[in-house]
Amino acid sequence: MKHQFLLFLVTLDNWFDHLIDYFFDRKFHLDTLTKVNFSQRLIEVPNRINAKQYQGTRWRVFNRIMKNLPIQYRDYNFIDTGSGKGKALILASGFNFKAIKGIELFKPLYDISCQNLRKMNLNHRIQIEHGDVLNFTPPKGPNLYYLYNPFNENVLKDFFTNLKKNQTLGSRDVIIYLNPRYHSTLTKLGFQYQVLLNNLNYNKVVLIYTM
Ligand SMILES: C[S@@+](CC[C@H](N)C(=O)[O-])C[C@H]1O[C@@H](n2cnc3c(N)ncnc32)[C@H](O)[C@@H]1O
Repeated sequence: MKHQFLLFLVTLDNWFDHLIDYFFDRKFHLDTLTKVNFSQRLIEVPNRINAKQYQGTRWRVFNRIMKNLPIQYRDYNFIDTGSGKGKALILASGFNFKAIKGIELFKPLYDISCQNLRKMNLNHRIQIEHGDVLNFTPPKGPNLYYLYNPFNENVLKDFFTNLKKNQTLGSRDVIIYLNPRYHSTLTKLGFQYQVLLNNLNYNKVVLIYTM
């Protein structure tokens, strides 16, 4: 009985999240909410195997992450690696980041993100690139790398290995990993981590990594 009640509360919380994001899209005439499964669509992209699916960050989750960050926003560039339809980028614009950048592999999602930014009048404040994160050159830091479970362990490993090798990673850089499916890939590369948020609904955990 207790278990069922808890399940009911989680479902309710999930629906509440969904409702907030639904009205967010409605209010600003955006398209950030609908999920895209890459196994059914976008099959023309050769390295789609590295990607999972598009799902935008929830408004409530993002704001909780930001409130718990132990950094001064104004010192950092916010970089969304796998920026999808631009949801996290748009939400990041509510904070005082030095710069906000995204990179997205899939052209249809990149195109939607550009439209979304234009509708919000954020196309000058936020820069999005279309391409593979492995070809992305980060700006001079400190950088906050935002990852919402975007790619598999090979891409994750190669991306941060390259940054380390090229001495692009600075001592103040942080990685925020939401739904950290390949957590051990980062610890094996020598990153220290802490739990930033736990007990989010639908089993999401947020970890923060530092050098
Ligand atoms: C779960 S979605 C997150 C979207 C966005 N970060 C947000 O929080 O609203 C992950 C995104 O990563 C993108 N992605 C996957 N592999 C990528 C790669 N190698 N380079 C760039 N983007 C990639 C996918 O296309 C997808 O849009």
